[in-house]
Amino acid sequence: MTNHLFSPIKLAGVELDNRIVVAPMCQYSADDGCMNDWHMTHLGMLANSGASLVIVEATGVERHGRITHGCTGLYSDANEAAMKRVIDHARRIGTAKFGVQIGHAGRKASAQRPWEGGGPLKAPDDPWETIAPSAIPFGAGWHTPRAATEQDIVRVTEAFVAAARRAVRIGFDTVELHLAHGYLLHSFCSPVANKRTDRYGGSLENRLRFPVEVMGAVRAAIPATMALGARITGSDWVDGGLTPDDAVALSKGLKGAGADYIDISSGGIAADTRNPTALGYNVSIAERVKREAGIATRTVGLIVSPKQAEGIVAEGKADMISMARAFLDDPHWGWHAALALEAEVKRPPQYLRAGPKLWPGAAMRG
Ligand SMILES: Cc1cc2nc3c(=O)[nH]c(=O)nc-3n(C[C@H](O)[C@H](O)[C@H](O)COP(=O)(O)O)c2cc1C
Repeated sequence: MTNHLFSPIKLAGVELDNRIVVAPMCQYSADDGCMNDWHMTHLGMLANSGASLVIVEATGVERHGRITHGCTGLYSDANEAAMKRVIDHARRIGTAKFGVQIGHAGRKASAQRPWEGGGPLKAPDDPWETIAPSAIPFGAGWHTPRAATEQDIVRVTEAFVAAARRAVRIGFDTVELHLAHGYLLHSFCSPVANKRTDRYGGSLENRLRFPVEVMGAVRAAIPATMALGARITGSDWVDGGLTPDDAVALSKGLKGAGADYIDISSGGIAADTRNPTALGYNVSIAERVKREAGIATRTVGLIVSPKQAEGIVAEGKADMISMARAFLDDPHWGWHAALALEAEVKRPPQYLRAGPKLWPGAAMRG
């Protein structure tokens, strides 16, 4: 049976066995930005999930660029060493390749972990000053950010470059810039959060300038063989916000600055916006970006079944799919998808006997 989901794809010099990617997922469990045994277990588990690529959670390029006190960072030698320990392990024991999402949380930084409320940090919990394109809070009760100066923009760009260099030393296969979900680079793009009147605000070209500059600076700092991409916002889902037209324009700009792929997500620009709840709600935007920007695309958001995922790739709507919650629920989702679609998937030798060739029970489960 012809299978699209389980066909290989190459991004820059990186060969992926299939089109299934585990989406970045914050674990809010790091110690001053350093990964620990939780990440060892979590990423070790996903390394043998059947996905060809696992993207490590949103990782702050500077300490104050983290969302919470528990978020990972790549701003210190200690962060780098801790992440290298985990990634070396996951690569040694698993079948997947690994990428890291690097970002700056902007006006959504200095927040509580979700299970502590997910709101802004209060005085006893060591909150910090946040930055944003304009001094407009994310929502009622949130910290009022300081409008970033040009010095901040230069410092953050350099921090992205330094974090990407650390990612290269760790041995990641890909680097992904976080340009979605209301964090700093997305908030510069969106007219909802960006009311600047300098060359980083106003026209679409001006609002896209900072993220495109970051993409160019990171591209220049990492090997051409390493795949570089961005997770962007397909829509702000609010009147006056970013639209799929803007996503196409941004993707063209990022491609021009050296991106190898674009991952289409959406939402999160302000506390009172809500994402659609339909299956595959970003797929039609990814289809437009793929066609009009002419770049490899990945999309995410309520993709849940093997048949749905196969259809998206087979119909040319996206080149890859990315999934988050389905992999937390079923860390062998890729194995079960292979069974359902009668495809081959890599497993570690220790677990080969769970595959359909050596265990008839596997097929009965599917
Ligand atoms: C626990 C959790 C943590 C997340 N952390 C991140 C993150 O670090 N970076 C990011 O871009 N998206 C993050 N997301 C969003 C997911 O990557 C994904 O876009 C979203 O959950 C929709 O996909 P799904 O329907 O497959 O879960 C997170 C989602 C979950 C459930």
